[in-house]
Amino acid sequence: MEQISLNTVTIGEIYIYDVPITDSGQHKPRPVVVISPPNQKGDILIIAGSSKIGNWGSEEVFQVMPQDMEEGILNDNTVFPISKQLLVTSKFLKKRIGLLKKTKIDQLQRLIFSWHTQLYHHQRFSKKEFTPGKSRVNYAGRVFDEKEMINLVNASLDFWLTEGRFSQDFSEKIAEFLGVDNVILTNSGSSANLLAFAALTSAKLGDKRLKPGDEVITVAAGFPSTISPIIQNNLIPVFVDVDLPTYNISIEELEKAISPRTRCIFIAHTLGNPFNVDEVLRLTEKHGLWLIEDNCDAFGSTYKGRYTGTFGHLATISFYPAHHITTGEGGAIVTNDEVLANIVRSFRDWGRDCYCSSGENNTCGKRFSQKFGDLPMGYDHKYVYSEIGYNLKMTDLQAAIGSAQMDKLPLFCESRRTNFRTLTSIFSPYNSFFILPEATEHADPAWFSFIVTVRESAPFTREDLVNHFNNNLIDTRNLFAGNILRQPAYQHLKLNVSGSLRNTDCIMNNTFFLGTYPGLTPEMLEYIGTVLREFMSKFE
Ligand SMILES: Cc1ncc(COP(=O)(O)O)c(C=O)c1O
Repeated sequence: MEQISLNTVTIGEIYIYDVPITDSGQHKPRPVVVISPPNQKGDILIIAGSSKIGNWGSEEVFQVMPQDMEEGILNDNTVFPISKQLLVTSKFLKKRIGLLKKTKIDQLQRLIFSWHTQLYHHQRFSKKEFTPGKSRVNYAGRVFDEKEMINLVNASLDFWLTEGRFSQDFSEKIAEFLGVDNVILTNSGSSANLLAFAALTSAKLGDKRLKPGDEVITVAAGFPSTISPIIQNNLIPVFVDVDLPTYNISIEELEKAISPRTRCIFIAHTLGNPFNVDEVLRLTEKHGLWLIEDNCDAFGSTYKGRYTGTFGHLATISFYPAHHITTGEGGAIVTNDEVLANIVRSFRDWGRDCYCSSGENNTCGKRFSQKFGDLPMGYDHKYVYSEIGYNLKMTDLQAAIGSAQMDKLPLFCESRRTNFRTLTSIFSPYNSFFILPEATEHADPAWFSFIVTVRESAPFTREDLVNHFNNNLIDTRNLFAGNILRQPAYQHLKLNVSGSLRNTDCIMNNTFFLGTYPGLTPEMLEYIGTVLREFMSKFE
């Protein structure tokens, strides 16, 4: 037998191995691909080659074509099933057949990682048993399988870290889903809100830009970071009340709140329930106002068959774990307006004027030949700043998770709708005690949650019921800030209120929500029903 020098054995080489390596006992020399260098004892990890016609079903199989070989030729009937990894002594390596190309070795190593990741996922995250009264019923949470983890492993192997190929893929999937032209990824939904709003203050918009002291209409029953950008940019938020049971801006109050100083409406589709888009658009058009849709809780909801997030000049999405899909932390801005998209990108990327992606240079061909501000002629465009910007980009690791999550979004939304219907049937017998949520007319919400208001006439309080749920390990949440004007951070600010905030205060005092997320199982929903009935039996 030809003696192979151990020092030369490297990953990606293919050898003929000369002793039986499966328990068939048949002595049949066969090709093996090396996947580790020899250890101190001379042992190597290999994958044993098998016949292509073997029945490998859905198993991961590494296939080598003639063009994949850097050196040598391999019989094209041979495949390497990833599960056939063995530690063998290198002294039975009989003959070197050749070496794979670098890109092919990369592909092989990634397949091995993917295989282990899949095994890890099944071992670590496969379905947990639900024991009523012992297991927690969360209101939200990340729902994922091995695909998200494999993408994440691949992104970490790329080690590109900042925006890259997964970001491109993720944004294209969002654009296709919503049918929009521009998707700009960010590191959170709050950052998306900040950027969408900041973009409207850009001098590039001329007279249309928002200026300090202008008024922006919003609601007080919402999430703080819909409002923070208005205050941070020195504009005046004008708060109006919401309607029950949609929890969305009251159109009547909105109309009354519009003044000659009003320039923008910045509101959310509350907990996935679209606001009255027709009426809001009628008012924005009539008064020439900007509209930003905070779509953070409504990714997948529709109004008259069209996705929310596609009606405003700009819209935002959040990918925090409680949301419709997750990237851990993450968000996006979507818009069909090219000018706004470029401004948002600039604010997101340090305020720079150049629009080359990370790693790109001189895509405009004028990198060193333009004049900006008082800078010398030809000053490097990469370092020209035309906005007072931030760095709020998403990493490719987050985008890799998001890309796999996007494939699940339609199913997730259906699951939210189904869970909402189940919860409605659980609560309906008690609707004399509760205001139950209702979709806005013409809307089909992908519900973020199941929101309930305890009627003031009920013989119990929200706290009584919420304590009962939580004592029984069922998670509840309030509608975020309640009446945000009553929060400590808002006590000394210059703010305007139009009309009364009666419903907003009612929400602060009497409203809570349960989850509708796709991680809820029929057993969990049944348990919620049991726990509710137990509580209600005291009042029948
Ligand atoms: C309506 C709304 N807007 C904005 C945000 C902020 O998103 P993020 O947590 O990704 O910053 C949230 C968060 O839950 C939200 O509910």
